[in-house]
Amino acid sequence: MNISNRRAFLRRFILLAGLTGSQSFPPFLTRLRAQTPRPGNALRIPPEWDGSPLKVAPGQLEVWPGYLTDVFSVNGSVPGPTIRIQKGEEFSAKVENHLSEEFVMHWHGILAPESMDGHPRDAVAPGEFYEVNFRINQPASTSWYHSHTDMLTAEQVYAGVAGLFIVEDPSESALGLPTADNDIPLIIADRRSNAQRQFNYSPFMRDIMTGYLGDIALVNGTPDAWLSVDSGLYRFRLLNGSNARVFRIALSNNQPFQIIGSDSGLLAEPIEVTSAWVAPGERTEILIDFSTYNLGDSVVLKSLPFPSGGGMMGGSSQGIEMDLLRFYIDTKANGVNSVPDSLVSIPSLNAANAKRTRVFNLTPSGMMLHSINGLLWEIDRVDFSVPWGELEIWEYRNLSMQPHPMHMHAALFQILDRNGAQDIRPEDKGWKDTVLVDAGETVRILVKFDSHPGVFVHHCHNLEHEDSGMMQNFEVLPDPTPVVRISSTETVVSWPGPLVGWILESSDSPNPNSNWQPVNQQPSKINNEWTVTIPGVAERKFYRLVGSGF
Ligand code: C2O
Ligand code: CU
Ligand code: CU
Repeated sequence: MNISNRRAFLRRFILLAGLTGSQSFPPFLTRLRAQTPRPGNALRIPPEWDGSPLKVAPGQLEVWPGYLTDVFSVNGSVPGPTIRIQKGEEFSAKVENHLSEEFVMHWHGILAPESMDGHPRDAVAPGEFYEVNFRINQPASTSWYHSHTDMLTAEQVYAGVAGLFIVEDPSESALGLPTADNDIPLIIADRRSNAQRQFNYSPFMRDIMTGYLGDIALVNGTPDAWLSVDSGLYRFRLLNGSNARVFRIALSNNQPFQIIGSDSGLLAEPIEVTSAWVAPGERTEILIDFSTYNLGDSVVLKSLPFPSGGGMMGGSSQGIEMDLLRFYIDTKANGVNSVPDSLVSIPSLNAANAKRTRVFNLTPSGMMLHSINGLLWEIDRVDFSVPWGELEIWEYRNLSMQPHPMHMHAALFQILDRNGAQDIRPEDKGWKDTVLVDAGETVRILVKFDSHPGVFVHHCHNLEHEDSGMMQNFEVLPDPTPVVRISSTETVVSWPGPLVGWILESSDSPNPNSNWQPVNQQPSKINNEWTVTIPGVAERKFYRLVGSGF
């Protein structure tokens, strides 16, 4: 299948002259709270998006005190501003490319129509912009946005093009979860620290094998971050925005915390854990209770060490221990939120209703390349198509020595089992859009595509793997249900292309064995829709639509 000649491309516009080029920006916004001087840097909080155009541009920011780091920012900020939308509302934004290379933005975890999803085909040239506008129709979640440019995703995300996309809804607000200053986004991403304090992106062969791993973690773009907290309950929305590093989140004193949400929304109920995996692209929402600390105490959010793959490559720094963020318990909370017993109701998908299983073998194919079923990504090749609204099992088999966080556009899914065990871990529960498939593991997920038809991608969210070929196009076929409009003069039947069909009529009965004859009128195709107009209403007749795909 080739998509080049039948895709509706995003409309592009040229930016007015003089708008492109490098800019320098005001310093980060930080939370307004009395801060005592402390080692490290107060945690930055990304600004809230004000609806103005999302300007992706080169610039310089003071990431490390006293140094200017070259970045690609969104509206002058790294991470970019937090987009916050209520379920049911329209999201409409202009995306401006002020870089000197192609660019397209993807709304990760958000169910967007094909032409606005940030497919690499839709990248716009330097100096161009495009507009997106669609209704948000999914539960409250902590999603995000980032670059999705063909073979430049890793570089552009590393340079800073990423931010949160938070969806809110009334059932979440009714839960009494911590809000305002006790609801904190934590975008965690590793970087290589170096004497020049630059985000140099220069992957060597082994970086493409393992992914580009850093030696320190930035939280909301803050190195050596700390946060002053009160002795209450906090909601932290964690996003692993790293190119390749997997984190295993824990507190330095092994204090338990609650997982309340995963990628695409809240869980059915909080689950108490002492550590949680979060792979690139994944989100986990947690509650931490600071009520047992004395004022003046501190505790560190960290990533625990774990054995990493890497196999023959050996020596990869995947799995090293890392400090992420130090909490100082500075003030007494006035009134402490309690952890709700239950959160939201999640319909559970039933494997017995699955129509088919698709197997994806995740294999290395040579030193620099990673493939899916032996194939490397090609921007114009569609690898398979998926019928609308049918439950499927996707089986990801990791036959390589590297972890692969697999991510899917256009649908949210549930995890069925991991290595055959249905007793999945807490991080695997709820609605997901990314799943960590570790070296040697097989993970099966349940998924149904019924949000938007069109060509979308699924891929490894290790961005070096994605950029080096570990991605596929698939086409979600449109809803085949024909629409029938009956007026006083005619009956009009329409259904979506590319499904091919024709109408049969029968005067005697709707029984399949009755005498069915094709109607005289030929279907005509307008845009992507077939239509048959049957004039007159005099006789009583029965009609059937038959063809391929119905
Ligand atoms: Cu977060 Cu296709 O990516
Ligand atoms: Cu995505
Ligand atoms: Cu991978």
